[in-house]
Amino acid sequence: MRVAECFKADLLKGTTVFVTGGGSGINFGVARNFAAMGADIGLCGRTQEKLDKAAEELEAMGVRTSAVAADVRDYEALEASMAACRDKLGPISVLIAGAAGNFPCAAEKLTANGFKTVVDIDLLGSFNACRAAYDQLLETQGSIIFISAGQAYIPYAWQAHVGAAKAGVENLMRNLALEWGPQGIRSNCIVPGPINDTEGVKRLMPAGAEEKFARIMPLQRFGSVDDIGQMAVFLASPLAAYVTGGQFIVDGGMNLPGSGAWTHLMAKAMSG
Ligand code: COA
Repeated sequence: MRVAECFKADLLKGTTVFVTGGGSGINFGVARNFAAMGADIGLCGRTQEKLDKAAEELEAMGVRTSAVAADVRDYEALEASMAACRDKLGPISVLIAGAAGNFPCAAEKLTANGFKTVVDIDLLGSFNACRAAYDQLLETQGSIIFISAGQAYIPYAWQAHVGAAKAGVENLMRNLALEWGPQGIRSNCIVPGPINDTEGVKRLMPAGAEEKFARIMPLQRFGSVDDIGQMAVFLASPLAAYVTGGQFIVDGGMNLPGSGAWTHLMAKAMSG
């Protein structure tokens, strides 16, 4: 992993990183990058089996783990998962608020419960994680990294629910930077673009369109989970000690106004 070539391998040894939704996808990739830096990893997610498998893989990298299932919508379960993590690994230094839900649906077809479900997972779930981790973060003078999305600042068709939720997440990030900065807790977010082998791309990208879509992106490729993990490690590192309230876009330029992804070229590429 590139982080291990660019940072000291024991950079985060003795610290605990807690990742919501950490059993798979981008969040698991982020967890692996932190493990490569020697951090112990706490995971939560809805499926214990998935978490156990992820924890096994992380432990094979030589770090300790805590994996206790919790749905981020369930505050008590989340608190219990974080308490178990603390008992086993020590207080949380970095919280990755990554758990998210998404499906494409036209606004006029979306039910009130469909809208609420995504807001509950992404926005309320992120608040729950921050609130439940607060005492531990205060103790470690730690930091929070939210995994946001381009939908937070650009309207995407069939993503009204996700846009509302992620815009809320980004403002929550800024609010906590303001309120908790004086208490020694930093708060930032990462905005991933299309990331290979993830549920997000599977759900949002028409099958077979990946190669054409990549061609109209400024950096000409989809990202990897490591692209996101590297940014997360940087934001958690001492190099970012003066960085808070920031939005860090790691999307290969996809969401730049004027990028091919937002012109007629996109429609042409997707259909032809
Ligand atoms: N289109 C329209 N509405 C949908 C939908 C879809 N594809 N999928 C779910 N919904 C609606 C349901 O109809 C329901 O509303 P209703 O009660 O009015 O019918 C509501 O959303 C809740 O659905 P449910 O399946 O009970 O929610 P859940 O809590 O079990 O699952 C989801 C949450 C829907 C977000 C599910 O897709 C999920 O678990 N996703 C996690 C993984 C993920 O999304 N990864 C991508 C991250 S970018």
